[in-house]
Amino acid sequence: ASASIGADVVSVMERRKLMNLLLFGAIGLPAAGMLAPYTTRPSSATWEGGINARDEIGNNIIASEWVNTHTPGDKTLTQGLKGDPTYLIVENNKSIATYGINSVCTHLGCIVPWNTVEKKFMCPCHGSQFDNYGKLIKGPASMSLELARVEIDDDRVVFGQWTETDFRTRDDDDDD
Ligand code: FES
Repeated sequence: ASASIGADVVSVMERRKLMNLLLFGAIGLPAAGMLAPYTTRPSSATWEGGINARDEIGNNIIASEWVNTHTPGDKTLTQGLKGDPTYLIVENNKSIATYGINSVCTHLGCIVPWNTVEKKFMCPCHGSQFDNYGKLIKGPASMSLELARVEIDDDRVVFGQWTETDFRTRDDDDDD
């Protein structure tokens, strides 16, 4: 895999999402997906502004299946708000974290990969770094990665706007 993924990943994912809704809309969806009225509401919003998290091929993410196939500490890119690739995180207790991390760099919009060796999000474009929680460690970005609220609704993972205080700003030096 190349590290030189850039901002066009966003549009690629957007296109793939549309493609996959068209290609796979009638086949291969789990029962919960078949029942969702997405023909009229593509996002199947379950609260105002909330959308189903979708996997790389556009299927709704089912929480119980996800935690069985992803190990604690896992950070996987999913389709989030506005189509932004957003990390869905599995906590050490095998639950899905109540926050997702938007991978779009707050500097100039590159997709920021998680570096498993350095244990940081490291932007390939200009070197900004963010900790485990997406909190800014090093510029040129001047803000942390955006958070998304995560809720589980009837076993579906739903992203919404982060409206609470940013928990990462509470103590500047605490990494955990
Ligand atoms: Fe990430 Fe510039 S876009 S550091």
